[in-house]
Amino acid sequence: MDNFTFHNPTRLLFGRGQIAALDQELPADARVLLLAGGGSIKTNGVYTQAQKALGARVVFEFWGVEANPDFDTLMRAVEIVRREKIDWILAVGGGSVLDGAKFVAAAAPYSGDPWEILTTFGKNVRSALPIGAILTLPATGSEANAASVISRRALKEKLAFIHPLVFPRFSVLDPETTFSLPERQVANGIGDAFCHVMEQYLTYPAEAAVQDRFAESILKILVEVGPVTLAQPKNYAARANLVWAATWALNGAIGAGVPQDWATHMIGHELTALHDIDHARTLAVVLPSLLHVQRAAKRGKLLQYAERVWGLTEGSEDARIDAAIAKTRAFYESLGIKTRLSDYGVKIDTAAEVARRLQARGATGLGERGEITPAKVEEILRRAA
Ligand code: NZQ
Ligand code: ZN
Repeated sequence: MDNFTFHNPTRLLFGRGQIAALDQELPADARVLLLAGGGSIKTNGVYTQAQKALGARVVFEFWGVEANPDFDTLMRAVEIVRREKIDWILAVGGGSVLDGAKFVAAAAPYSGDPWEILTTFGKNVRSALPIGAILTLPATGSEANAASVISRRALKEKLAFIHPLVFPRFSVLDPETTFSLPERQVANGIGDAFCHVMEQYLTYPAEAAVQDRFAESILKILVEVGPVTLAQPKNYAARANLVWAATWALNGAIGAGVPQDWATHMIGHELTALHDIDHARTLAVVLPSLLHVQRAAKRGKLLQYAERVWGLTEGSEDARIDAAIAKTRAFYESLGIKTRLSDYGVKIDTAAEVARRLQARGATGLGERGEITPAKVEEILRRAA
């Protein structure tokens, strides 16, 4: 296990009725910009609860943050923040709204072209407005991490930045707010969280027993509660465990001091930028194929995963690895998430195009050992045809 600093400053307010706690979390004289998506929070009552908790505070609203939040949309919110001297951002929605809030919070005080925040992975961020969040979709972990992923459709780009200043100061996690999610978004959330764990766990052994066992338990919980949540949308216990699992999948805990991969996400983001496929669905396409192509480098962990997560102990090592990869694919398919490029109408020439794009941005050595070259990316996507 390498040296590490684990710092997560986000206060989590978990459970039924916790939206009311906004009143204690936000200063009484805050000038708030409430950031929201396309309107789900109006139909499920979350907006009304937030309004009530905000009370007499000065609140501006910005609606229309789309799934895969867009730079051009968010720059309109940045204008409002600057013009109205907003001093708090309140994100109410899924990961896209939360990521959008992080970008707006960093872009408003930024003196240069805010696109640089993304092209430099957040290196130049010097200040950011405080952010609070009400999360309505368990998936990204954005509610308790410092990452933000922003798309720019005009340039066909999707880039991320990370900066400690954009950790939410607090996030409300009320599982009841997730009852209204359509099946597709529930499945996406489970699939995304599963992959977040895999990116931090399925690398090579690093003698990090706590991180390993914790990662394995999150994977098993996702496998258990995923189908229950889909079958019984109002099952509070299943929702609550799903929300908590997704938060811990990407709040830094299981990734502390261990090698991390993230190649599936890097490749997946290119597929979303080029073909507008839901984030989690791109991961379902890439992950099984990447595990296969990287099976030699990941051998130790693949065997551990096979045994501890899927209970596979019979047969040769290679047979167990094959079975674990097949289980991974079958899990995504069981959620209703297709795992082949052709399922999304994507032609195989995209393999070379994604490799070319990663090469052009200097991402030539992905994965835990930096050995996933553009040629390997192409191979991974060809196997995912
Ligand atoms: O826009 P509204 O009307 O709110 O509808 C949303 C949206 O259409 C809907 N929704 C959300 N909560 C709902 C609901 N519908 C009914 N009831 C509710 N309670 O769901 C749709 C999708 O929402 P979105 O926020 O886009 O989904 P998700 O949370 O999966 O976020 C995906 C984005 O997060 C990024 C992805 O790349 C993608 O852009 N990621 C962010 C990460 C991070 N910050 O750490 C890491 C991830 O790997 C990921 O890359
Ligand atoms: Zn993800």
